[in-house]
Amino acid sequence: MKRLTVPKLRKRKQDGVTAEPLVMLTAYTARQAQLLDAHCDLLLVGDSLGQVIYGLPSTVPVTLEMMANHGAAVVRGSYHAVVCIDMPFGSYEGSPEKAFESAAYLLKQTGAAAVKLEGGEAMAPTVEFLVRRGIPVMGHVGLTPQAVNVLGGYAARGKNDAEAEKIVADARALDEAGAFAIVVEGVLEEIAIEVTGAVACPTIGIGASAQCDGQVLVTEDMLGMFERVPRFVKRYENLAGTISAAAAHYAEEVRARSFPGPDQCYQSG
Ligand code: KIV
Ligand code: NA
Repeated sequence: MKRLTVPKLRKRKQDGVTAEPLVMLTAYTARQAQLLDAHCDLLLVGDSLGQVIYGLPSTVPVTLEMMANHGAAVVRGSYHAVVCIDMPFGSYEGSPEKAFESAAYLLKQTGAAAVKLEGGEAMAPTVEFLVRRGIPVMGHVGLTPQAVNVLGGYAARGKNDAEAEKIVADARALDEAGAFAIVVEGVLEEIAIEVTGAVACPTIGIGASAQCDGQVLVTEDMLGMFERVPRFVKRYENLAGTISAAAAHYAEEVRARSFPGPDQCYQSG
């Protein structure tokens, strides 16, 4: 199977219609990528790895090196999906030149095809700068977790007219700047629908609407690895329960000296 390309994904939405929604999940490791790859159009190396893998309090402390290391692992573990890497906080906002340097580093270190960055109108010139120099960019509007210190939390966005209009304007600006897709996170459904109709590129919803042109979830969230998740997460599994039951069973057998058994030990002759 040949790897999908950014232009193919971008073309999934033509004349404002996306016949088959884009499927995206996050991936941070090679093995995870191997398991998800065949089912996904896109694997996102999300900076959510800050909380999910590193136990950090937000995505703000995530570094370019973390993203490059996990990005390389995900590229090595996949052969079908387009791999897109989140640009971490502080690596792109300063100037288009700084953003280009960071994005080029990520693509060179990993072999991934695209980057994602947060922000709307303010980031549009940067998106255009990168795209014109050969780096496909995915946008991200609505609830943008890197701005947690400005937003004051992770509440849904667009609950008043000014906020709603700003989100639509942000998405339009990214679309006009050449973004190949836009994540729409944590907004009132009517705004997600309006944004999806307003932009030529596909929208990828999370806490948004089934009418977006695609969907994304954090894989560990949808696998049920965490007790507390945002309400927009649907749990498709209960891995936390499975893992903790397996650990309990192992601990019990070790303490009873019933593991290892004869099958797990080497004998002479
Ligand atoms: O970091 C991340 O996982 C993301 C997705 C939730 C869109 O940005
Ligand atoms: Na992210």
